[in-house]
Amino acid sequence: MKSKKAIDLSEFSFETRRDVNFYIKEKFKDPSKLTQSQISKIGNVAKYLEVGYPRDYLIGNSEFYGRKFFVDQRVLIPRVETEVLIDTIKSLNLCDGSILCDLGTGSGCIGISLAMLNKSFIVFGVDISIDAIQVARKNDLIHDKKNFFLIQSNWGSCFQKDSIDCIISNPPYIDKDDSHLTDLEYEPLSALVSNLHGLEAFEIISQQAKKLLKKGGLILFEHGFDQSEDVENIIYKNDLKLIKKIKDLSGNDRGILAQK
Ligand SMILES: C[S@@+](CC[C@H](N)C(=O)[O-])C[C@H]1O[C@@H](n2cnc3c(N)ncnc32)[C@H](O)[C@@H]1O
Repeated sequence: MKSKKAIDLSEFSFETRRDVNFYIKEKFKDPSKLTQSQISKIGNVAKYLEVGYPRDYLIGNSEFYGRKFFVDQRVLIPRVETEVLIDTIKSLNLCDGSILCDLGTGSGCIGISLAMLNKSFIVFGVDISIDAIQVARKNDLIHDKKNFFLIQSNWGSCFQKDSIDCIISNPPYIDKDDSHLTDLEYEPLSALVSNLHGLEAFEIISQQAKKLLKKGGLILFEHGFDQSEDVENIIYKNDLKLIKKIKDLSGNDRGILAQK
């Protein structure tokens, strides 16, 4: 009788072995009963991981704010730094019935998490990419939120003047020549890169916010760890008032909350 080949990961890095174990736990109910073809598949998974292919795309989900979101190569993988946006909105105690708008929703992780904070909120998830909208729709179905609505649009151009209580956005903010992009080669470039040294999306959204927000309405951005001053200047240029700067878990300036 042919004996079953064991999984041999000795040729792989520590990180790959750790991620393979994570993959096995996520994908198989009983890892002690893997079939030969499952073992071969795990060998291929290890090869992908070793060249930097993201673990979450292989598993098909990513955790954000304590919940799982479906992800594939059509969307950015949600980052833990972004969770601070949800904490910030939570701390604001916005009125029941507030209208929130997640510009650049990607997988929908921000918008759906906000919709879960208060079921009376009306939350719009906006993306220009139809691929992203399809992924977000899948997550909307998984989490079944009746107060989350998806719209394909160029930022907030689909909304009326003075109609929104709060805009939240984690837009693309990496400069096209930034060397970090080589580490992100499997994620969509349109989710990562913005013109004007990574600042164009902040410019456009801030200009729109001035029109779209109700009087006293809020805008909350995630930005790069070294963009705090630039985004602050964009806020002032658009006659918005700075309310506070927000730090991520590593202590870097990571977000800005402003008001119309
Ligand atoms: C950094 S990703 C953020 C995804 C998700 N919100 C998150 O935090 O994980 C930026 C998103 O903005 C979208 N985007 C880029 N340009 C856009 C535009 N002009 N209008 C609307 N969305 C845009 C991209 O498709 C992408 O999904």
